[in-house]
Amino acid sequence: MTNQIKNVAVIMDGNGRWAKKKGLPRTAGHLQGTKNIRNITIAANDLGIKSLTLYAFSTENWKREQSEVEYIMKLPAQFLDDYLEELIENNVVIKLIGERDRLPEYTRKPIEEAEARTAHNNGIILNLCLNYGGQREIVLAVKQMIADGVKEEEVTEDLFASYLMAANCNPIDLLIRTSGEQRISNFLLWQIAYSELYFTDKLWPDFTAEDFKEAILNFDKRERRFGGR
Ligand code: FPP
Repeated sequence: MTNQIKNVAVIMDGNGRWAKKKGLPRTAGHLQGTKNIRNITIAANDLGIKSLTLYAFSTENWKREQSEVEYIMKLPAQFLDDYLEELIENNVVIKLIGERDRLPEYTRKPIEEAEARTAHNNGIILNLCLNYGGQREIVLAVKQMIADGVKEEEVTEDLFASYLMAANCNPIDLLIRTSGEQRISNFLLWQIAYSELYFTDKLWPDFTAEDFKEAILNFDKRERRFGGR
């Protein structure tokens, strides 16, 4: 590979449309999308990628129907029941990114247990972003810097980045969004400053390991300039 790809982020979009196309309830799309997290994590780990950061539930997603929200909130526990052992065998490190207090106990606790069990692994970092919003992340970082008494002259890009919830995937090299939408939707605003963007029409449940590799190959062909020439 010519471009050293370390940090990849994905906006996993299109679960609802996938289900609708099949005449199934939206929740069936979320379930299939959850299974796909396992496939793409293994593929990314095999490619030697350092972190995979997934947008699973935004600060805005609470506005959805209560039944859909409740269903999505139960998926992390199911995901970990089904795949945690396999992910541990693959040395995956699991992390939760987002404001934890608003997450139900049945969502937060299994992920926190998985964080503890995988903390010493040395494979890919799988960041699960739940109740996450990029603007909120920046506001929280500023608040914490003020609380820590950081002085004006001490504020640098590096120091600021270290205060972000998603500090471990900074900078994102490649941001993928599935389902044909071409928006950032308040995901990782700071970390994507110089990201390459990759949009595909594939719906998230249909986005295969092969599709993921194609996105990486596409990234590999690009010339990154970081504002220089
Ligand atoms: C976007 O599709 C998808 C979501 C808002 C939810 C994604 C959540 C998961 C895949 C499950 C999370 C599980 C774990 C383990 C963290 P959409 O519903 O907006 O699709 P649409 O645009 O076609 O309606």
